[in-house]
Amino acid sequence: MTPQNGKDPVLDPIVSQPQSALVLPVTQTSVPFHIRCLRDDPQDAAFAGRLTVNAFRNKYVHATSEGSIPDVIRTISLEQRGQDPLYYQRNFVAEYDGKPVGIIYLIFRGDPIPRENTAALDTFGCCDVCGLKCLDYGFRTVEDLRDYECYLDMVAVEEEFRGKGIGKALLDRADHEARIHGCRTISLLVDVNNWAIRLYERQGYTVTSRSWKCGWLWCTLGICCFLKMEKRLN
Ligand SMILES: CC(C)(COP(=O)(O)OP(=O)(O)OC[C@H]1O[C@@H](n2cnc3c(N)ncnc32)[C@H](O)[C@@H]1OP(=O)(O)O)[C@@H](O)C(=O)NCCC(=O)NCCS
Repeated sequence: MTPQNGKDPVLDPIVSQPQSALVLPVTQTSVPFHIRCLRDDPQDAAFAGRLTVNAFRNKYVHATSEGSIPDVIRTISLEQRGQDPLYYQRNFVAEYDGKPVGIIYLIFRGDPIPRENTAALDTFGCCDVCGLKCLDYGFRTVEDLRDYECYLDMVAVEEEFRGKGIGKALLDRADHEARIHGCRTISLLVDVNNWAIRLYERQGYTVTSRSWKCGWLWCTLGICCFLKMEKRLN
C-alpha cells in the first residue's frame, strides 16, 4: 500500500491513540496500526537507519555531504545491530498496516551508551568522519540525565505517513514507558525552527531553556539554537 503525496484515501487517519497506550504495551487501534519494540534484525536496522537519516537529512548533509548520505544510512543501520538488549526495549517502531513507518528513541539514566560501529566509518573520508563525530557533541548524553528523567532522543515518522497521529501515538508511548520506569519528567531538545515544537506543546511539553551556541552548534549541526522542552508526568 503506497500512499501518494500523503493523500492515500485508503489509509484512515489515526484519530485517537492515547490513554490505551498507557495500559497496553502494544498499541492497537481500529486502523491497522501498532507500536512495538525495535528488533535486532536486518529489516528494522535498515528501516531505522533510513528513517533516522531522511528525517534529519539537513543535519547529516551538513555534517558530511549529499554524496555521503547512502554511506551514512548504511552506517546508522549497522549501528542498530548487536546492541545491548536494553537498547531494543527503549526504542519503538510504529507499524501501519504491517509496514514500519515511525520510530522513537528513549534513554533512561544508567542506560548503556550504544556501541559505535567504527569499522563502518572506514568508508568515509576524514572530513566526513569529523563531521559525524561532531554531531554527538550537540546532544545530551546519558550522564547528563537527572534521576527520574527520561530523555526523548529522537522521534520521526516517514514523510508520507505524517499527519495521521502516529507522532502523537509515539509520544504517548514514550510517556507510558517513562511512567513505568518511575520517571517524573520527560525531556527533549529541538531545533528552534522545527514545527514539531507545536506538537510537543500540545502534548504537554514546555520550553525550560534555550541553547544559543551559534559558533560550534552551527559548525557541528547547522543549527543555531536548540530548545530544551520538558513535560512533567503525573
Ligand atoms: C515530528 C513528527 C514525528 C510528527 O509526526 P506525525 O505523525 O506527523 O505527527 P502527528 O500526525 O501526530 O501530528 C500531530 C499534529 O501535528 C500536525 N502536523 C503534522 N505534520 C505537520 C506539518 N508538516 N506542519 C505542521 N503541522 C503538522 C498534525 O496536523 C497534528 O495536529 P493536530 O493534533 O492538531 O491534528 C514528524 O513530522 C517527523 O518525523 N518530522 C521529522 C523529524 C523531526 O523533526 N522530529 C522531531 C524533532 S526531534
